[in-house]
This record gives sequence, C-alpha cells and structure tokens, in this order.
Amino acid sequence: MTEYDIAVIAGDGIGPEVTREALKVLGVAGDVFGFHVRGTEFPFGTDHWLATKELFPDPAFEEVRGMHAVLLGAIGDPRAPVGLVEHGVIMRMRVGLDLYVNLRPVKLYDARLCPLKDKRPEDVDLVIVRENTEDAYTAKPEFLNKGGPDEVSSQPMRYTRKGTERIIRYAFELARKRNKHRKLLLIDKTNALPAQDLWTRVFAEVAREYADVKTEHAYIDAACMWMVKNPEWFDVAVTTNLFGDIITDLGAMVQGGMGIAASGNIHPGRVSLFEPIHGSAPKYAGKNVACPVAAIMAVSMMCEYLGQRPAAVAIEKAVIDLLVSRRLKGVGTGDHPTNEVGDLVAAELKKVPARV
Ligand code: IPM
Ligand code: MG
Repeated sequence: MTEYDIAVIAGDGIGPEVTREALKVLGVAGDVFGFHVRGTEFPFGTDHWLATKELFPDPAFEEVRGMHAVLLGAIGDPRAPVGLVEHGVIMRMRVGLDLYVNLRPVKLYDARLCPLKDKRPEDVDLVIVRENTEDAYTAKPEFLNKGGPDEVSSQPMRYTRKGTERIIRYAFELARKRNKHRKLLLIDKTNALPAQDLWTRVFAEVAREYADVKTEHAYIDAACMWMVKNPEWFDVAVTTNLFGDIITDLGAMVQGGMGIAASGNIHPGRVSLFEPIHGSAPKYAGKNVACPVAAIMAVSMMCEYLGQRPAAVAIEKAVIDLLVSRRLKGVGTGDHPTNEVGDLVAAELKKVPARV
C-alpha cells in the first residue's frame, strides 16, 4: 500500500480544531482509496514560541524536508509580535522549501454561498497562481532615521527572471491541463511599477511555447474589479506574491468566505504545504464554531498533489453534496459545529464504492 509521511502543524487559534477535522477526512480517504498516511505532529506556533522562544528549529525543518507533504492549520496570535511566528513558520517553509507556487482555486460550490447577485457555480471556477518566494515579501525591510521626523522605510518589490519564469510556466501548464478555456491572465501593475516589465517580457516569451493557450492581461486594480463584476471571465491567472495575497482574499469571499478557501504551497516533485487561506481567528478558538471546510479542502488539494486524484475529487464532491443538500449548514463561523463536519465528510466518503 502506498504510504505518505505528512507533517502536521496545527498552529494557533482555530488551527488545531480545523486540522483535526481535516485529518479525520484524510484518514478515511486513505482507507477508502487504498493509501496510508503517517502523520507527525509538530508543535510550532505561538504557544510553543512563548514557552520555548523556538520558532522552527533546524532539525525539525530537515525532518519536514524529507516528508511528502505538510498540513498547516493556522498561524498568528496577538501574544507574539506582529508577523514573528508567521515569518518563522509559514514564510520559513515557503522560502526554505522553495515552495514557489501558491495555488489558490476559487470555486463556488453552491450558489447560496456567493455574495454576488445571480452568480452560479459555473460562473465562479478559476485558479489564481500566486508567486510565493519573491517580491516585497522576501526583500529586506529598511528603516532610515527610525522614529525621527525624516524617517524613511522601504521594502523593495524584487523579481528575478528565474523566479518569474518558473511561476509563469507553471501557470501556462495549468491552463493547458485544466483545459477549461485554455486562458491565462497575467495580473500586474506595470503602468505604475515599471519593474514589473520583467513579468510582461517573460510572459510573452513563455507564451510562444504555448500557442494553444490564450493570453490576457489586466492590472491588479482592474482584476479586482472584474473578479467581482464578471468572475466568469477568469480561468487561470498568474500574479506576483503581494498582489496574489490580496486578490485571493477577494476570491475567497466570492467563493463563499474564508471558511472554504484552501491553498497549496508547491514545489513540483518536492515536499509541499497545504493550508486553509484563513487565519487563526483567536477569538473563536476552542469554541467549536470554526468552519473546517477550508482545511478539508486543503487535504483534497494535498491528495491531488500526492497523485491520489480519486480521493481529491471524492472529498470535493462530498463537500459539494453536503452543502447543496444543506446537511452542512454553511461555511461561516458558527454555521455548523466544527467537530461534526469531518465526520459528515468522512461518512460521505465511505459511501464511495470500494476500488477493485
Ligand atoms: C496568506 C496569508 C499570509 C500571506 C500571511 C499570514 C503572512 O495572508 O497565506 O495569504 O500574506 O501570505
Ligand atoms: Mg493572505
């Protein structure tokens, strides 16, 4: 039987609760589809940092590097300085494991979840491919005359040709593989940020190798507008780290909210990290009100990545069926007790006829 070693970092706030449900689903998916998952839990997050001042020690990091995938719950807690644990855990893995693709599908599972008027599931089915290792995110912040009246701070948006090319190539491949409209949209802000001309040129160069994929372009501000006005125009879109961060929160709302949006931080062929897009929501922690669907969809993405596509599809179908039939009441906070959701999805999976 195929076996997978998975690192589990439940993290802060609602992270442990949603991760528990996601793991229930992953375990049952393995039983039904014939694979075994060995989960190793790592305690990293704010509690661990407060207790030990340790963020992600090197030996643990090397252990994770040797695994097949990572499932992350959520990181962030006001008891730690802003961004410290996020950098020490999430950014450490994104950069340290060179997870250059941040894959963020935006898919509406049930019309009632969409805040936009008259949009149906067939109107909202797109993927944002966010570059995940460069941009201002990984540039050094600088403060001159800190605290003084002439203070200047900066953090450059830095792009390399190699980093830009590999993410654009991944997006072209995805547009081809998805085979929906075979359309790839480049989102940038070259009208105001000429440094992004690198993206324009590399996009045009790579496009020549993908004559079967239609190319489009939009500035990030307009892309946000189109996402709300005409989400049906999108198929696959590729963009920079920072713009991708922003537009995927918008995308998450269009597909039903932070309770449902999942993502993969991927380096094809290497250990990759799957997580809900939402944060740790400390005020809801331990109340059994958080929606674990996003974490469950992260597990679906993980299955797809690991080559267990039937399991990935079955998890997604289970979630859709449960939402459409309203056995799953919703994906908002408090819509459904957290600890029942994993069982509901698992029960649906068990109805899938055993593979021969
Ligand atoms: C995300 C989050 C992170 C990001 C934070 C927690 C650093 O917002 O995954 O979208 O900005 O990338
Ligand atoms: Mg974000």
